[in-house]
Amino acid sequence: MSIILDGKTTSNQIKEELSVQVKGIKESGKRPPHLAAVLVGNDGASLTYVGSKVRSCERIGYDSTLIKLEDNISQDALLETIEKLNSDPLLDGFIVQLPLPKHIDEEVVLHAINPNKDVDGFHPTNFGKMALGMETFIPATPFGIMELLKRYKLDISGKHAVVIGRSHIVGRPMSILLSEKGNPGNATVTLTHSRTQNLAAITNEADIVVSALGVPNFLTADMVKDGAIIIDVGITRVYDANHHKGYVIVGDVHYDAVKEKASHITPVPGGVGPMTIAMLLQNTMLAYQRNQD
Ligand code: GUN
Repeated sequence: MSIILDGKTTSNQIKEELSVQVKGIKESGKRPPHLAAVLVGNDGASLTYVGSKVRSCERIGYDSTLIKLEDNISQDALLETIEKLNSDPLLDGFIVQLPLPKHIDEEVVLHAINPNKDVDGFHPTNFGKMALGMETFIPATPFGIMELLKRYKLDISGKHAVVIGRSHIVGRPMSILLSEKGNPGNATVTLTHSRTQNLAAITNEADIVVSALGVPNFLTADMVKDGAIIIDVGITRVYDANHHKGYVIVGDVHYDAVKEKASHITPVPGGVGPMTIAMLLQNTMLAYQRNQD
């Protein structure tokens, strides 16, 4: 039986801390932090995530702007929107929700964002700073996982961490942060991916597994060592006619079986997902503070 790493409660604590900061800012007569989100198209999951991000802003007293664009918008028109956001002095940070429609080059778009407003931490300047251990915007999902480990006082120093998935948003930055000098950090990291051979032998050696694959129930109990820390980044929508939404959210981890072996485990939903939003808000506070200086 494992301890549940409760991302929902932890994220609420972080949001509460930020809302106290915002209250102080407003009382001193200043404007609050302002986050904008750009959403292209009507992807159901993206609509849900962006909606949560905007609602969370409102809840803690930030200003927020949602910019919804048609899915046939040209790349140039999207870049024009980004330019406007880049030069708006009353906007501290913004995100462009991924994935983008196929006719748009994600790399071109992400590289057009002013690094000082790139609260997702996806711009090469910020990614480079993160990799060098410099202060910057850390991508919210791996940042949220590090914060969860920190708040639960889980010591991973010298431990073997295995990351599944090498995406630029989660797996790759996660592997860097886990090995970074610091607490939490100092782990010995193996970054695994679709070409990795004999994955189960590797995960079986892991003291901590971070799965960011997007394949429901992929990580089964036989792939996990007794007492391991299990972090599930998967949030796949699986069709379920019995559910009022018509789908359920399923993680990468075969939760019911793996929780019997793990020492600590994140649930889905209520684990990594809410932490991602809290850390985006934290990054926006950092952008705001820099903007005020
Ligand atoms: N799509 C999935 N996760 C993210 C994220 O953290 N930021 C953005 N912009 N898009 C995403």
